[in-house]
Amino acid sequence: RHHILSLADFTAAEYNTVLQTAASFQEVLSRRTKKVPTLQGQVVANLFFESSTRTRSSFELAAKRLSADTLNFAAATSSMTKGETILDTAKTYLAMGTDIMVVRHREAGVPNAIAAEMDRLGVKVSVLNAGDGQHEHPSQALLDLFTICTLIDPASPRLELLKGKKIAIVGDILHSRVARSNIWSLIASGAEVHLAAPPTLLPKLFAEYILEEAGVINQDFVISSSPTPHYFGLPRLRSAQVAQYKSPLPTPQLFLHWKLEPALQNADFVMTLRLQKERMTAHLLPSLREYHQLFGITSTKLQLCKPNVKVLHPGPVNRGVEISSELMDDPEFSLIQSQVTSGVAVRMALLYLIGSSKV
Ligand code: CP
Repeated sequence: RHHILSLADFTAAEYNTVLQTAASFQEVLSRRTKKVPTLQGQVVANLFFESSTRTRSSFELAAKRLSADTLNFAAATSSMTKGETILDTAKTYLAMGTDIMVVRHREAGVPNAIAAEMDRLGVKVSVLNAGDGQHEHPSQALLDLFTICTLIDPASPRLELLKGKKIAIVGDILHSRVARSNIWSLIASGAEVHLAAPPTLLPKLFAEYILEEAGVINQDFVISSSPTPHYFGLPRLRSAQVAQYKSPLPTPQLFLHWKLEPALQNADFVMTLRLQKERMTAHLLPSLREYHQLFGITSTKLQLCKPNVKVLHPGPVNRGVEISSELMDDPEFSLIQSQVTSGVAVRMALLYLIGSSKV
């Protein structure tokens, strides 16, 4: 594999290669000297056309730990403000000898377009998608997978550890590239994935699209009553409406809920998502207080889950909206800081594997 743009076609072997490689880099990062010469002489350019804290910094740190040279680009301070195009920007970095481009953009498809241009030019530049619009965020889903798997078996994180685990993904599914990438990896692992969101943030057409894209059927198409009609007032749906989807899998793995409780019941892991206010038109934006009341994850609501449940959030967090501030900071339940820590080892693994074309 030359580029990593999506997890849609990732194989179990590829997931396990990433997990095992990340585990070995995690070990390197625990040493006093945290650096290896693996990518010495290579250039990694972080092309961030949209803002980021953890993805950009951890890709930069990962590249530095691998001894690569790094270039950091931020659209707001670049010549794009003078009218330079995305592809001309990428070609400028190519001309400086870039080997790997890490690309984030607010529109879906930009990393693919840059990768296609590099392929058309016949150059050996790899492109890593660092989050494109509402499409995918592969490195985030891989670090989420690594965080969970290392919790279960620190010595040997592997995809199969999630088989049969119940994982709830809660919140703004509609706008979440993180959810989209996580659906691919979790379905591949054999986990049972429950998506829970208000109907405005997981509308019927979008829900059907997810079912169709993931190729799974949902036998538990739970539609909540409409407790707050002013924004939950969409027509009720019936399970028959999605029965047309045929599953290639022996058991249903993807479940959609318009209320929180069925998703949390006996869950092993809860992934909360940020309410992406910047991508919402006014009619989609719920009252934050009401949203927190119905979909915000709190210690009380976690009592529905398994006793040793853990909570993840990709960050950045709206404290007190999708998760209570107190739960976010509770090390007994929250994996949020571990996710950030895992990000460096996982991104070292991706840069290494792409840099040496082993994925
Ligand atoms: N999770 C994530 O992508 O965070 P940043 O936007 O800070 O990179």
